Amino acid sequence: MEKKKKTAGRPLKAADRIWFGGDYNPDQWDDATIDQDMKLFREAGINLLTLPVFSWAKLEPDEGVYTFEWLDRIIDKIWQNGIHICLATPTSAQPAWLSARYPEVLPVDIAGRRRTHGMRVMYCVNSAKYRERARAIAEQFAMRYAHHPALVLWHVSNEYGTTCYCPACQAKFRVWLRERYGSLEELNRRWFTSFWGRTLTSFDEVFVPNELNDDYRFNPAVQLDYMRFVTDSTAECFENEAQVLKRYNPEIPVITNMSGYIKKLDQQVMTAHQDAVGFDNYPSPWDPPYFVAMKHDIMRGLKNGQSYLVTEQSPNQQNWQPYNRLKRPGEVRLLAYQGLAHGSDSCLYFQMRQSVAGQEKFHGAVIGRSGKGDTRIFREIAQMGKEFNRLGDQFLRAETHAKAAILFDWNNWWALELASGPSRDMDYLKTVSLYYHAFHRHNIDVDIVSPSADLSGYFLVTIPELYMLRPGIADRLLQFVREGGTLVGTVMTGIADENDRCLFGEYPGPLREAFGIRVEETDALRPEENNVLTCAEGAEIGSGKTYRCGFLCDLLHLEGAKPLAFYGKDFYAGMPAVTEHYYGKGKAYYIGTQPDEEFLSDFYENLFADCGLSPVFSAEEGIEIRERDGEKGRTVFVLNDTEEPRRVDLGSCHWRNLLNDEILTGAQELPGREVLVLAPGEKAE
Ligand code: GLA
Ligand code: ZN
Repeated sequence: MEKKKKTAGRPLKAADRIWFGGDYNPDQWDDATIDQDMKLFREAGINLLTLPVFSWAKLEPDEGVYTFEWLDRIIDKIWQNGIHICLATPTSAQPAWLSARYPEVLPVDIAGRRRTHGMRVMYCVNSAKYRERARAIAEQFAMRYAHHPALVLWHVSNEYGTTCYCPACQAKFRVWLRERYGSLEELNRRWFTSFWGRTLTSFDEVFVPNELNDDYRFNPAVQLDYMRFVTDSTAECFENEAQVLKRYNPEIPVITNMSGYIKKLDQQVMTAHQDAVGFDNYPSPWDPPYFVAMKHDIMRGLKNGQSYLVTEQSPNQQNWQPYNRLKRPGEVRLLAYQGLAHGSDSCLYFQMRQSVAGQEKFHGAVIGRSGKGDTRIFREIAQMGKEFNRLGDQFLRAETHAKAAILFDWNNWWALELASGPSRDMDYLKTVSLYYHAFHRHNIDVDIVSPSADLSGYFLVTIPELYMLRPGIADRLLQFVREGGTLVGTVMTGIADENDRCLFGEYPGPLREAFGIRVEETDALRPEENNVLTCAEGAEIGSGKTYRCGFLCDLLHLEGAKPLAFYGKDFYAGMPAVTEHYYGKGKAYYIGTQPDEEFLSDFYENLFADCGLSPVFSAEEGIEIRERDGEKGRTVFVLNDTEEPRRVDLGSCHWRNLLNDEILTGAQELPGREVLVLAPGEKAE
């Protein structure tokens, strides 16, 4: 196993503008088209192009034969037009000759079949040959361009995410396990192999968990370790190139772009290797704004609140949804400002010019096949270019100072959804989003961070379905409450250890003392079933009111906690479902079910008041407010996430709308999808 070295550490290079532009594939176009594009890019205020993401075959037509001259010319042309570049190593799509000559670079799928050449992102991250050739072409990039004046960012590969089950992966997995657990006895203990008599007598008896041995997910502990192993292998694969790039010029930050389907790789591990987080933001047209906002906050949390980059989004419809809805007028702009509001320093698109053929010919682009600047989308983009020029570096690198956090853990995500039972509908991201929604609708900034993050700056911490308590987490949560914090826990909390072995005793395990309860059983409801939550008369939360709940219902007993709401139906009607408990100088709330959004809204509204958390402005539902604080002071983003006018009250202070220099105060009506970017301002005259 190679020694793990980490590249990361360097924050983003100081830039004085929001990076604005995106993926450009000039190898698909002739000179006249490229010239036409340059003119339009200048017109739209584009300042960054990412290239040449998929051009390995064109740059290395045969092993060790490099033909970079065409790229030299294009890069020079881009720079002559005053545009910077984010240079991507093209290693996500290896050339056909490489797969043909060395079939071991192709991955083996979960059914045990070696894939054939064709698709992109179709290589084994552990293939020594793949790594050798990837490193070699990365070195060509570094030698040629590491000091090019246009270069501001390195972008390694594209959307990592292949899980391979080949013999090379299997061999490395065995080594990885030996390094992690030291001995076979320890591995047997961690995997609890005495269940179903799966005891291992040699590391050579370990197989990758694929369909040949694992039809029923016989042991989630094996799957879980395989996902960790794939993440570590992918991080090594990133480092394989990143270290070469750094060697030639340590000043240029190195990133990669993360697919919106973020589950497959532990991004808390992956991004520790990167200088900044790069996020490809592709919400479905039907995702509610809070769901999109949540993903942005997950991104901001990955590097301790450091600003991140939106590396891709679609400037119009996508092509891979079942129904590819056009982005409505104002929607591209609204989504862009949502990213900036949540901590992004860029607004980059896939793609700058629409392809003529292939998989993505119907995917939106800044420049369509007409090649003209008179389209609805181009005009919207060009308007943003003007606004971004005006905004300059106002909020770049500025942070969000949230006093509340939601803990989010990839290991927990995997383990929860690998588990057979208690419900097949386990959906961690959905549960987290349900809790997140309460913060979003009340415009309370919240960080979404790893359970190992420093909690000392937070007043309120929520741990939705924190089923897996990895070492040290419970102690830190107990300490957080003892020192005065408010903790909210939910059903499916504190059940398993880092190897998915259930803790002996009662639940939520070591957190019981903070919550002052004990869970005895958990009922699973079908989607069409529900229970009701009735709140005690006179309770601070929902006094006398009834809400719906469902999915899972804990049957819990009080051990010092005060009940706040009770089940209203079934044989456990009258048992407590939501509780409050004083512990040390703090308080811990337990929600033993999945309540409806109304309950969570009322519940959190009360907690926010209790913890002294309030929004910057009060506003009608549908208005999203986010603040970033940096060298230039405060910037407050006000977004109307709806299509209709909505009101926001800016209070008695004066604010300058940086988009048009208007001074605003008091109640304002914001048209549908409109945006304000506010800084504290003086009175007009
Ligand atoms: C991904 C890829 C891009 C492109 C877009 C299309 O994010 O990185 O190359 O395929 O999807 O939505
Ligand atoms: Zn492999």
